[in-house]
Amino acid sequence: MGATGLVGAYLLDFLLESSRYQKVIVISRRSTGKKSPKLEEILIDFEQMEHYTAQINAHDVFCSLGITLKKAGSIPKARKVEYEYPLKLAEIALKNGSEQFMLVSSLGANAQSKNYYLRCKGELEEALQILPFRSLKIFRPSLLLGPREEIRIAEDLAKVFAIAFAMFIPHKYRAVQARTVAKFVEMAALKAEKGISIYESGVIRRIEKRSFDLENFQEKTTYRGI
Ligand SMILES: NC(=O)c1ccc[n+]([C@@H]2O[C@H](COP(=O)([O-])OP(=O)(O)OC[C@H]3O[C@@H](n4cnc5c(N)ncnc54)[C@H](OP(=O)(O)O)[C@@H]3O)[C@@H](O)[C@H]2O)c1
Repeated sequence: MGATGLVGAYLLDFLLESSRYQKVIVISRRSTGKKSPKLEEILIDFEQMEHYTAQINAHDVFCSLGITLKKAGSIPKARKVEYEYPLKLAEIALKNGSEQFMLVSSLGANAQSKNYYLRCKGELEEALQILPFRSLKIFRPSLLLGPREEIRIAEDLAKVFAIAFAMFIPHKYRAVQARTVAKFVEMAALKAEKGISIYESGVIRRIEKRSFDLENFQEKTTYRGI
């Protein structure tokens, strides 16, 4: 879910290329426009997600849903996309036997934050941690870099600043390529560990370096066996 977005589109390409997956199901409100014998697109009304329960059935579930407050129009509408839809997806998938849930969250996600966006992300992370997935993997990227059709003025200004002053910004806060995040998510999904793993942006960015090795990839903020 989120396959028409910046991270999601890269991730979909990686999953379609991956030999691990025989089938990739996209749950979306519009088509990705991609063609592959492995791809099945299910166009849904997100307000009626339970009507598609039978189709939301996969071993691994990936969610990179998100929306800007400006585009949503109000905090309650934004919260539906940031919190309600991903949680509903997780609950349905779990009932159908999914083993792994991968969430693209955000740097600074915190259920106690005064910022609605970071609070939604934090609340979603906490709600997902209660669900008994065999494995829950949460990714917290910093500002995402990559080509967007949509103009986001504040984000575009932040990108200019983040690129120009990158050397003065601590590693963990530096902007990260959306493509890198997608690759990291795909790689993390291959790891068979149980429990909850949270990957911060600084760890995700390391795969941009050629020196990256799989041992470093073990590094994460939290690990709890369930
Ligand atoms: N932007 C950043 O710099 C940044 C930084 C850190 C973390 N994040 C988080 O990283 C994740 C991925 O970000 P991204 O930039 O790849 O996201 P994105 O490009 O904005 O894509 C968002 C996805 O959510 C879907 N979506 C939005 N509103 C929807 C609605 N009302 N109903 C159904 N689907 C809806 C979009 O579908 P449509 O194509 O149909 O609209 C799209 O597939 C998000 O959770 C985001 O909050 C972003």
